[in-house]
Amino acid sequence: MKKIILLGYMGSGKSTVAKLLSEKIHFPFLDLDKIIEKEANASITEIFEKQGEIYFRKREHELFQQIIGDPNEAVLSLGGGTPCYANNHEFLNGENVISFYLKASVGELYQRLLSEKTHRPLLANLNPDEMKEFIAINLFERSFYYLKATHAIAVDAKSPEQIVAEIEQFLV
Ligand code: S3P
Repeated sequence: MKKIILLGYMGSGKSTVAKLLSEKIHFPFLDLDKIIEKEANASITEIFEKQGEIYFRKREHELFQQIIGDPNEAVLSLGGGTPCYANNHEFLNGENVISFYLKASVGELYQRLLSEKTHRPLLANLNPDEMKEFIAINLFERSFYYLKATHAIAVDAKSPEQIVAEIEQFLV
């Protein structure tokens, strides 16, 4: 297996779990949001503000495709929306690819995202009630794509170490 992909809603723990897993299995760690930011020399918030979400989704698709086409091993953490645009979900079960949906409940995501919504352009301008409603609707709409992952792992109330251990069971 060359590429291990972690996907899921904002706040589901993709980057934390991917980094921990990469250290454990000695695969390089790649974070698609960070790669987009580095390549654009701008933060995700700045890209959304200056070039717009459509431009962001285009770069997200192109860079995801580029990573999938690279033959090297990696643990890759996607952005929350990545599988839901530009047919990106088709990359989730390709040759040498295994993907994991980190499945969190609306309540858990809401709690986690309340304190860190400022750098997430889709949430930054919403008040807490609006945010909860947005998460519920958006998660429902996106679940169709998230469930294309090879495996779904329930993450509510689990530590990153527990989640990594569950993922590792599928890698043997
Ligand atoms: C997005 C999630 C973000 C980032 C961008 C859009 C989304 O990634 O890609 O703000 O559409 O859910 P994280 O899930 O890492 O916050």
